[in-house]
Amino acid sequence: MDQQAYNKIEQPSSLCELSSHRDVLGSTTLQAENIPSALLDKMEEAITHYPVSKRSAVLPLLHLWQNHFSFIDESGINWIAAKLELNSIAILELVTFYPWFRQKAPGKTIIRVCRTLSCALAGSYEVHEKFCKSAGIDSTCEGHHEIPTSPDGKFSVEFVECLASCGSAPVCLVNKDLVERVSLQDAEEIIKKNS
Ligand code: FES
Repeated sequence: MDQQAYNKIEQPSSLCELSSHRDVLGSTTLQAENIPSALLDKMEEAITHYPVSKRSAVLPLLHLWQNHFSFIDESGINWIAAKLELNSIAILELVTFYPWFRQKAPGKTIIRVCRTLSCALAGSYEVHEKFCKSAGIDSTCEGHHEIPTSPDGKFSVEFVECLASCGSAPVCLVNKDLVERVSLQDAEEIIKKNS
């Protein structure tokens, strides 16, 4: 859809229920009011990779934003839209389309359990269940953009697809670290270690 078509879409007064960054501790701050210069520099640099149309920098900017803030609030959507001269709805469409992008804060430790065939056959569903149980998370409540998080805000656990380590299934990512051949006992210990 081109910009003209977007312009014809009436902008909602509130893009979503998110009007602020409510972190796990309950404080409220707008992400766009707290952009560090290092993040700003990275976003400016990313935009230079798209000299023909800076709008093409939208996904890199969303990744940079989420890497820094851990999720993307409404102020972030509006800020990126303004920066790339797009309507906010265009950014919201992307954020809500890709499950990777989150609109709510995840736990401090994010555990991603592979559920693709090799890992599923090797017991990843049981491992996921164990992680959830040990962290106090309801394993049945998995939202598209709201990663299931423990009540104390320490853990989020979600399923992901193949992590490209099928030979050492079942595997999971604990934040950025790949853990191979995860047993139920390993899962319990990972939760204890990060509590
Ligand atoms: S199936 Fe799990 S890493 Fe490939």
